[in-house]
Amino acid sequence: MQVVHSVTDLQGLADRWRAEGRRIALVPTMGALHAGHLALVDAARERADEVVVSIFVNPAQFESASDLDAYPRTLADDLEACRRRGVSAAFVPDAGELYADGHQTWVEVSEISKPMEGASRPGHFRGVATVVGKLLLAAKPHAALFGEKDFQQLALIRRMVRDLGFDVEVVGVPTDREPDGLARSSRNVHLGPEVRPQASVLHRALCAAESAVASGELRSAALLERVSQEIAKAPAAQLDYAELRDPETLAPAPERLDGETLLALAVNFPRVSGGSVRLIDNRRLLPQREDSP
Ligand code: PAJ
Repeated sequence: MQVVHSVTDLQGLADRWRAEGRRIALVPTMGALHAGHLALVDAARERADEVVVSIFVNPAQFESASDLDAYPRTLADDLEACRRRGVSAAFVPDAGELYADGHQTWVEVSEISKPMEGASRPGHFRGVATVVGKLLLAAKPHAALFGEKDFQQLALIRRMVRDLGFDVEVVGVPTDREPDGLARSSRNVHLGPEVRPQASVLHRALCAAESAVASGELRSAALLERVSQEIAKAPAAQLDYAELRDPETLAPAPERLDGETLLALAVNFPRVSGGSVRLIDNRRLLPQREDSP
């Protein structure tokens, strides 16, 4: 596996692969790799001859210097995991490589950035869109893979790729979960042993809404009430938001669901070292059409 630090070197590698007719897939990450990230790598290997994993803790998507400093960094283990998984190249730029002195160009996906995660993290998605744009230009992939766990991020990147005409296929990969249904995340380690079992409540709430829809419940308010009831069963859980939205535009869903709808949740739990941990999860609900037999 090659470890590449500069954009020019990665572009050169991509040009060579493309000249040889090799298909390239990019998996952008911020490192601290866990099984969820590796599921993206496996999906990438199925679609491409050469898999590039980028490992870059992107300063532009953090609101504060302390959050940026606190982000886990496990580069040696990450590189080893990539090597074992058959990755062709790891792209590990430093911040100055992607944000040179005088940098002033940003990508803003105006509407999709606003609700849900965007509401509590102003500027976050501008940072995500900008860095993903840079990574696509550096790795020149045929396909780029993103987790459905961060559904808003995936919708935002799809929109950016369409709007700016990037020549790349954006692939969403289903959320990889712990045996009790908790979505794998680097944040899960901050849950203490009493709180950790309660964190599967997000998954249970999504399943409860899904079965309500399957038994014919289409009223948005009733579905959100069902979600709140389920979350309330976990004493440590504090619901931040539960929202029903269009899976492509993220526009609010109508009062009665009339097609595929995203249910997105964010729930706070006490952090073992003080403060709180915010976990997110989501599901696409597929109501039967009311006029279908
Ligand atoms: P990061 O949080 O490291 O996540 C990298 C990729 O892994 C994202 O596409 C994310 O959705 C996916 N992922 C994380 N947990 C997952 C799980 N349990 N199942 C499936 N996929 C999972 O997301 C980012 O980094 C950054 O915002 C980035 C896109 C790299 C831009 O900096």
